[in-house]
Amino acid sequence: MSRQLSPGAMEAAVSLGHPLVVHDDPDAPPSRRQLLDAVRGAVAIISLLTEKIDEELLDATGSGLRIVANCAVGYDNIAVSAAMSRGVAVTNTPGVLDEATADCTFGLILAAARRLVEADRFIRSGADWIWGPQAFVGLDVSAGATLGIIGLGRIGMAVARRAAAFNMRVVATGSRAAGSEAAALGVQAVELAQLLAVSDVVSVHCPLTEATRHLIGRAELAAMKPTAIVVNTARGPIVDEAALVSALQDGVIAGAGLDVYEDEPALHPGLRHLDNVVLLPHIGSAGDATRDAMGRLAVENVRCVLDGSPPRTPVPR
Ligand code: GLV
Repeated sequence: MSRQLSPGAMEAAVSLGHPLVVHDDPDAPPSRRQLLDAVRGAVAIISLLTEKIDEELLDATGSGLRIVANCAVGYDNIAVSAAMSRGVAVTNTPGVLDEATADCTFGLILAAARRLVEADRFIRSGADWIWGPQAFVGLDVSAGATLGIIGLGRIGMAVARRAAAFNMRVVATGSRAAGSEAAALGVQAVELAQLLAVSDVVSVHCPLTEATRHLIGRAELAAMKPTAIVVNTARGPIVDEAALVSALQDGVIAGAGLDVYEDEPALHPGLRHLDNVVLLPHIGSAGDATRDAMGRLAVENVRCVLDGSPPRTPVPR
């Protein structure tokens, strides 16, 4: 286990009855060297998104590895084909973090649209202030603003449910955008170009793959409304961060809310200096019950595979 998880998940892991090697620095993931040493002889690895599970690491385990259980819904940190070709199962934790991530997404939408963090910084600065009709005016989310969801999956759908309650019009890309659940929420399925053109808020929810890397770059930002806000709670590299910084600096779009970064934990040097962006340290799923459920599901996947059963949540092939 590359980190300590919730007490419930740790108890479940102990109950597997195998010796556990746990990296237990609460503040930092294992270094590459520590990880390579720790996995030697492992039958199962419970990893987090901070660990790169590549061929070198798979080889370092020896020949007994049976599962890599990522404690995250995203699994772009894992060389899935390499693992599968060695007969190693790969699992993630879908489903249990949808609501928490959608809450965080909606927090970013509201914070960026209504400039809440900028206003908080202003108050903390000690500057003189008095109520003013133009002070911190932002986007009216609930007055029929359009939300564009890129990649309408489980998390995007949970965001769409919140958007419906906020009286937003929702357009979306992705295979489920034309399905009955989306239709019941009033979601309109569109192509990416139309989504970019009509959305007041563009929220990214697709997985990171070679096809989605830099899906939002200079041209896509230029195709958005100058008043648009971009929110990313998926994976940083889906948005070209340098292009985003330029767009925010030059008024090509109005604002952004980011939970993830292209080269995490590093940030593009321009981001910190911009007032029109809200920055979070990748906390989308950081609800206590959610993190507990993620940890337990990762351990449950290990239990299944070590018992010779199919895992509960294998990653798609
Ligand atoms: C978090 O980013 C996750 O993929 O679960």
